[in-house]
Amino acid sequence: MLVIHTIVELRERLRGVTGIALVPTMGNLHQGHLDLVRIARQHGQFVVVSIFVNPLQFGINEDYSKYPRTLEQDCKMLEQCGVDMVFAPSERDLYPQPQQVTVELPPIANELCGAFRPGHFRGAATVVLKLLNIAQPCVAVFGKKDYQQLYLMRQMAAQLNLPVEIVGGETVRASDGLALSSRNQYLNAAERTEAIFLYQNLVEIRLAIMDGATNFFKLERQAIEVLTARGWQIDYVTIRAQSNLAEPTASECNLVILVAARLGRTRLIDNLEVVREQ
Ligand code: PAF
Repeated sequence: MLVIHTIVELRERLRGVTGIALVPTMGNLHQGHLDLVRIARQHGQFVVVSIFVNPLQFGINEDYSKYPRTLEQDCKMLEQCGVDMVFAPSERDLYPQPQQVTVELPPIANELCGAFRPGHFRGAATVVLKLLNIAQPCVAVFGKKDYQQLYLMRQMAAQLNLPVEIVGGETVRASDGLALSSRNQYLNAAERTEAIFLYQNLVEIRLAIMDGATNFFKLERQAIEVLTARGWQIDYVTIRAQSNLAEPTASECNLVILVAARLGRTRLIDNLEVVREQ
């Protein structure tokens, strides 16, 4: 497995290589990332994993400086998975000058997580567009755990006619249901035990919808009340249409329940798709 640190070397090494599948990551890899690698392998002949903690997508009071950086351990895991190349550029290489050219996303980028993390998706989309231009993959794989991010990457690729297929990978969960995330390690033992209630609330909402509940506002309110009473600080619990993340019409069958909430100092997000019968 090649570990490349500069754009110049990456371009040299990838010259003539076809069927590239890219998995963009910020490192500190877990089984969820390795599953994206597995999917990348199904779609491409040459798997590149990028590892870069992207300052552009962090707010000033967010966890950029303490975000875990574990390149050596990540590379060991990726080598065992048969990844062909790791691209771990420095900040200076990726942003040699202040990044003033950025991606302007559809208005939904300012809702949901975008409302609580202003500029987050602009930063994520901008670095992903740069990585796509640098590695020129035919496929790029993103986790469904970051559902809004995946939706926006698809919109960016479609609306900017990028020659890349955006593929989504299912969320990988711990045995108790908690979605795997690098940020789970910020949780203390008591918070880790509590964290499963985020997913349990999603499951309960899904069951209610499958049982015919149509008052989504009430379902959202109930979940917010339950979680708040347990000590969570809720950013949002919302039921949206899968197709555009807008509030669903009465006839919409393909739904997704999205949640973001803080436990202590840790912000967790999760989601669950629901297909209801008409
Ligand atoms: O999902 C992430 O880890 C990041 O947002 C991404 C896509 C690697 C861009 O920095």
